Amino acid sequence: MKLHSGFQSGHRGGKAVRPGGRRRNELHILRAFWRITLVAWRHAIVMCCREGRSGNVKWALYIWRRVIVFHSTLKLSQMGKIILIGASGTIGRYVEERLRKRHEVLRAGRKGPDLVVDISEPSSIEAMYREAGPVDAVVCIAGEARWAPLEKLSEEDYYVGIRSKLMGQVHLVRLGLDHLNPGGSFTLTTGILAEDPVPQTTSAAMVNGALHGFVKAAALEMKRGHRINVVAAGLVEPAAEKYADYFPGHNPVPMARVVNGYVRSVEGRGNGEIIRVYW
Ligand SMILES: NC(=O)c1ccc[n+]([C@@H]2O[C@H](COP(=O)([O-])OP(=O)(O)OC[C@H]3O[C@@H](n4cnc5c(N)ncnc54)[C@H](OP(=O)(O)O)[C@@H]3O)[C@@H](O)[C@H]2O)c1
Repeated sequence: MKLHSGFQSGHRGGKAVRPGGRRRNELHILRAFWRITLVAWRHAIVMCCREGRSGNVKWALYIWRRVIVFHSTLKLSQMGKIILIGASGTIGRYVEERLRKRHEVLRAGRKGPDLVVDISEPSSIEAMYREAGPVDAVVCIAGEARWAPLEKLSEEDYYVGIRSKLMGQVHLVRLGLDHLNPGGSFTLTTGILAEDPVPQTTSAAMVNGALHGFVKAAALEMKRGHRINVVAAGLVEPAAEKYADYFPGHNPVPMARVVNGYVRSVEGRGNGEIIRVYW
C-alpha cells in the first residue's frame, strides 16, 4: 500500500491569479495611509527646520509622536505580506485563519486560490514570486513523500519526496531570497518523523531530516535580516483518525499548538530554529 503524507503533484504551469478580498483591500489602504503620513510629516519637519520655525518644529515633533502611538496601536508595523503555500490543507487552513488577522496573506497551492504554484517545479515557483512581488514572509505547509514498507519503496518513490517536500521547499528559499523584503522570513514544514519515525516512513523521515540540516545551515548565511525556521509537528488532531494505525500510542497534537509554531516563526526573532510541536 502506498500512502502520501501530503499530496499528489499536478503542475499547472505556474499561472497565478490575482488576490482579492475586502480584508486585503483594507490592509492596502492602511498601508498607503501610513506611507503618505510618513512622507508628509518628514516633509513638514524638513520645511520647518529650513525656515527656522522652531515653534512649528516642536508641533511637528509632537504630532509625529502621536502618529507613532497611533501606528503601534493599529499594529501596522507588524503587518506583512505573506505567501502561504498549502493554505487549503489540514494544517494550512488554520494557520491562514490566524495569520490573516494581522497580515495580508496570499494563499498559494496547485489550485490557488490567490497564487497557483506547484513547489515541485522550480519554474512554477519563479512565476509565483514574479506575480506576488516583494513579500515579508514565505510559509510553506505543503510537500509530499511516499509511504511504503522499506523493501517496496522504489528509487522513483524516494524521488517523489525529494522533488516535492525536500527540493520544493529548498527551491522556495533559493528562488525566494531576492523577493523577500529586509527582515523577512521563511518558514518550512517537516514533522515528527525526522526524529521519531514509524514503520513505512523511511522516505518521509529522510526528507524531514535533510530539511532540518538545510534550515540550520541556511540560517548561518541569511542576509538583510532574513530568517529561516522549520516547524516540525506531530500527528495533528484533525488527521489523527486517518493515520491512527500508523502512529500507535501517539498523542495527537492540538491544532492551536501547531498554529503557534508558525506564528512564532513568522512574528518572532528566531533564526535556524527547528520548532518542534510534539506532545
Ligand atoms: N497532517 C499532519 O498530521 C502533519 C503532521 C506533521 C507534518 N505534516 C506535514 O505538513 C504538510 C501539510 O500537511 P497537511 O496534512 O496539511 O496536508 P494536506 O491536508 O494534504 O494539504 C496540503 C496542502 O498543500 C497544497 N499542496 C500540495 N501539493 C502541493 C504542491 N506540489 N505545490 C503546492 N502546493 C501543494 C495543497 O493544495 P493544492 O491541492 O491546491 O495544491 C494543500 O493546500 C505536509 O508536508 C505534511 O507531511 C502533516
